[in-house]
Amino acid sequence: MSAGIFYHTSASAQEEVNIYSYRAPELIKPLLDAFQKETGIKSNVVFASKGLAERIKAEGENSPADVLLTVDIGRLQGAEELGVTQPLNDPEINKHIPANLRDPDGNWFGLTTRARVIYASRDRVKQDKVTYEELADPKWKGRICTRSGQHVYSIGLIASMIAHHGEDETKKWLEAVRDNLARKPTGNDRAQVKAIFAGECDIALGNTYYMGKMQTNEKDPEQKEWAASVRILFPNSDDRGSHVNISGVALAKYAPHKENAIKLMEFLASPEAQSIYAAQNFEYPVLPGAKASERVQSWGNLKPDTVAIDQIGDLRKKASQLVDIVGFDNGPAN
Ligand SMILES: [Fe+2]
Repeated sequence: MSAGIFYHTSASAQEEVNIYSYRAPELIKPLLDAFQKETGIKSNVVFASKGLAERIKAEGENSPADVLLTVDIGRLQGAEELGVTQPLNDPEINKHIPANLRDPDGNWFGLTTRARVIYASRDRVKQDKVTYEELADPKWKGRICTRSGQHVYSIGLIASMIAHHGEDETKKWLEAVRDNLARKPTGNDRAQVKAIFAGECDIALGNTYYMGKMQTNEKDPEQKEWAASVRILFPNSDDRGSHVNISGVALAKYAPHKENAIKLMEFLASPEAQSIYAAQNFEYPVLPGAKASERVQSWGNLKPDTVAIDQIGDLRKKASQLVDIVGFDNGPAN
């Protein structure tokens, strides 16, 4: 690797790694500080909420990006499809990250998981168990809130339904869920919990970590009240488990500091980093045996669906088509 040799000979150069991150800087700072302490490698972070993969693409061979940090299988596979990642087969990483949370070709791997769960009104929902399938039951008529069916979080869940039930069954399910909606899909996950608080609906789909973000929200303390009005029900705990998605990392195609990037990726997969990272965003570590934070554990027991996340990714397009075909985002047809 001539570029690497050239780099190491430049006398006073500080060892560096360049991170393009869709994750907020304050979320990853504790990790990157720990990484620098351990290795002496300094991290430079470019943060944006969108367009980073496209930016690596546009920069081409001159891209300074070494690694891409992102959330959701949709965005990880999207980066792979754009051709801005490169495969890595690293025993250290493979040892720590479960196979179902890694790209079989090594282009990305998961660092944390988040479950897509049911937020249920404490006052108006008495049951302690739920399944995704029963969201189609007429007993929920006019009682369900959700964000857009085309959002990556929804697409992941619908793709998992296709993986378990096939396309035809999932289409029927999606139509029935649409007709149980209290309103047209609108807003983000937290807005659905707010709607439960306001009495507009009784249950909502949402990612687990938003419970933590609402419960600890000092900037907007009203969100603590939204959170207090709901419980989390983990769907399908008695069978296949709850749908989980990942936050993950990919090695950039033209990583100029490839060796340092691999060191960072190995560090992120390590037990030490796993618990820091997961706790920081109220997520679950992917490392088998590593515990979620106390707050996250207080929401109940997650049994994750172990279907390969890559398979979920491959079904994204079909899921998106179904959302359009049934007009999910138009809300109830009757
Ligand atoms: Fe989110």
